[in-house]
Amino acid sequence: MRTPLIAGNWKMNGSAEKIRAFGEAFAGARLPGTLEVVVMPPFPYLAEAQRAFAGTPLAAGAQTLNPEPAGAHTGEVSASMLAEFGVTHVLVGHSERRQQGETDEQVYRQACAALDADLVPVLCVGETLEQRNAGATREVILRQVAAVLEPLEPARRERLVIAYEPVWAIGTGLTATPDEAQAAMGAIRGWLEALNSDLAAGLRLLYGGSMKAGNAAELLARPDIDGGLIGGASLQVDEFFAICQSAG
Ligand code: 13P
Repeated sequence: MRTPLIAGNWKMNGSAEKIRAFGEAFAGARLPGTLEVVVMPPFPYLAEAQRAFAGTPLAAGAQTLNPEPAGAHTGEVSASMLAEFGVTHVLVGHSERRQQGETDEQVYRQACAALDADLVPVLCVGETLEQRNAGATREVILRQVAAVLEPLEPARRERLVIAYEPVWAIGTGLTATPDEAQAAMGAIRGWLEALNSDLAAGLRLLYGGSMKAGNAAELLARPDIDGGLIGGASLQVDEFFAICQSAG
């Protein structure tokens, strides 16, 4: 059985006060079974998250990283720096960063750096509306998955999580229907199956794109949806908590 995972990507939002409020709200919270919950705030709040999430079911995640270990990279943050602040998960290849020029090759290098530091890379893939309308959804997402999974040593592949986030559903209020999400995520699982059946059975796939308390349960009920990557709805503690409750 795959452990469900709910991750909140705060993007460039939040505050130290909001971090503390999430820590307080989740302290002593009763969450379903073995659910894992990760909150991914902007870098400056990671130290506060390390303090505020201690003793709660919340783990802290980051939204990106630079694949180099150190050096002259102004404004960048390395995997070991994230690990030093208790980060357990890091997004790689979010579409908002791919749109700014991040390539499959860079995303692969980020995933490797994350794995070297014992962080779980959450590989984000997804098609634009144009690509969907052109019938290219499957081709696009499988190319993005293959660019990272194929060159990785087999033993390291199983430590990844993959998030399917259709670009047209991000921040738009347009959610993929459960059928659309399952079709895309079933294609990813099928691709993994061809690579290695144990990997396909164990690797977690998250859905992201306007997921909220009102639609989480029906998405999470689909066989290939093991959790969610939540943007806007992860900024309100009650809403995020309700999504976690539906992941049992
Ligand atoms: P929204 O939930 O705001 O659509 O964002 C999804 C997302 O991009 C999470 O990484």
